[in-house]
Amino acid sequence: MRFGIKTIDELKVAGRTILLRVDINLPIDHQSGALKDITRIRAILPTIRELSTGNAKTVILAHQGGDLDYDNLSSLKPHSQVLNEYLNGAAQFVEDICGPTALEAIKRLKPGGILLLENLRYLAEEQTGFERTLRLTPLEQAHTLLVRKLTPLADYFINDAFGTCHRDQPSLCGFPELLPTAMGRLFEKEFCVLSQLTQSPDRPCLFILGGVKVGDSLAVIERLLENNIADRILTGGQLAKFLARATGKKPDNDFPPKGSALRPLWERALDIFKRFGDKVVIPVDFAYVQGGQRVEAARGEIPPNVRTTDIGYQTVKQYSSLIDSAKTVVVNGIMGDFTEPYSMTGTRLVWESLCRTNAFTVLGGGQAISAATKFGQLECFSYISTGGLALILFLTGEELPVIRSLRRGSQLNSKKSPEPFSSQHRRDYVSENLYFLGSKPDKNKS
Ligand code: 3PG
Repeated sequence: MRFGIKTIDELKVAGRTILLRVDINLPIDHQSGALKDITRIRAILPTIRELSTGNAKTVILAHQGGDLDYDNLSSLKPHSQVLNEYLNGAAQFVEDICGPTALEAIKRLKPGGILLLENLRYLAEEQTGFERTLRLTPLEQAHTLLVRKLTPLADYFINDAFGTCHRDQPSLCGFPELLPTAMGRLFEKEFCVLSQLTQSPDRPCLFILGGVKVGDSLAVIERLLENNIADRILTGGQLAKFLARATGKKPDNDFPPKGSALRPLWERALDIFKRFGDKVVIPVDFAYVQGGQRVEAARGEIPPNVRTTDIGYQTVKQYSSLIDSAKTVVVNGIMGDFTEPYSMTGTRLVWESLCRTNAFTVLGGGQAISAATKFGQLECFSYISTGGLALILFLTGEELPVIRSLRRGSQLNSKKSPEPFSSQHRRDYVSENLYFLGSKPDKNKS
């Protein structure tokens, strides 16, 4: 056991059927459908190879895109092709998750065989909106169709999806209720390296954030500063644009419109600045493209109706000097649209500073890694994590749902049948969730 979780060393895998949950959620080129960055596929190969050479029957479960990332919600067939390039054609793929075709293919697997099932996010209960609204308990997750169909065919559940450890979904937290569980080699490596960082980061400790999920990023900023983990947070990308607008103007009656999703985020951003002041650093200037040229302007002087696509050069200088004097830097997110020639400068120059610094540098998140790959800088980071939001949330020090569930599943020594819901549980469950049918019951009424 490491960190209260079993590792593969503690399982007898030969001849056994293993459900292996991985995170191979990748950026996709929408015109060609090609996978733009396969780092996450390469990262899970050690676990797959170890299981296959150990004569396990390996059933891989994975997601791609989802309700938060609808543009990338697509089949895992291209992923199976890439897997096969590395595994010499050993991985089969079925366009099914837990229906008859998938079940038949699992039953036919031979020792050493590898099977990838279709995108889990095609199932509603694997969607993030569903997770947030219903907040299923582990027992309820164990009662979903996915878990009930696949568990009888499996001996063990192994989770190697570190990038998804902040999610609370049946494919992650349902199986450990019923199957003896362990973490895969990638999960184990991420856990070891990153937990050292949470315990005593060398200071000053900088975080560079630039995600598009602004609500998630604000929550992360609050936790990193409240728990005194980050000394400073530098912002880029969509997050920086949002914060720059929020600090430039207090909410008024017209904007952000009352009742819009933006308004609570706006108020939350103002509260963060009130509480933490200049610990949250926003760009002093931005760049935009006009008449085919890159133009830069100070934060308060950006003409209305232009769309900024990068940070400006003064910001690059300020960020580079903070990076030079830091001892730890964690990066998740980008400075601007690094795929366009006029907007890549901010990310490229900040990443060059990250390559020059003596600090321990951790890079995570699809876009940040794609930028480093594009600029040929992957080698110069101290550690590349496969986690994006999961990495940052892990570093805030809280016990994430998947880690909690891995610890529970590591206590199981043999397969369990799902315990039936009690009739009271069923009544509570139905009444809690009735609002899906149009009316939320008043709990105070009998
Ligand atoms: C990620 O890319 O961060 C993980 O695969 C999780 O994706 P999600 O945010 O869509 O759950």
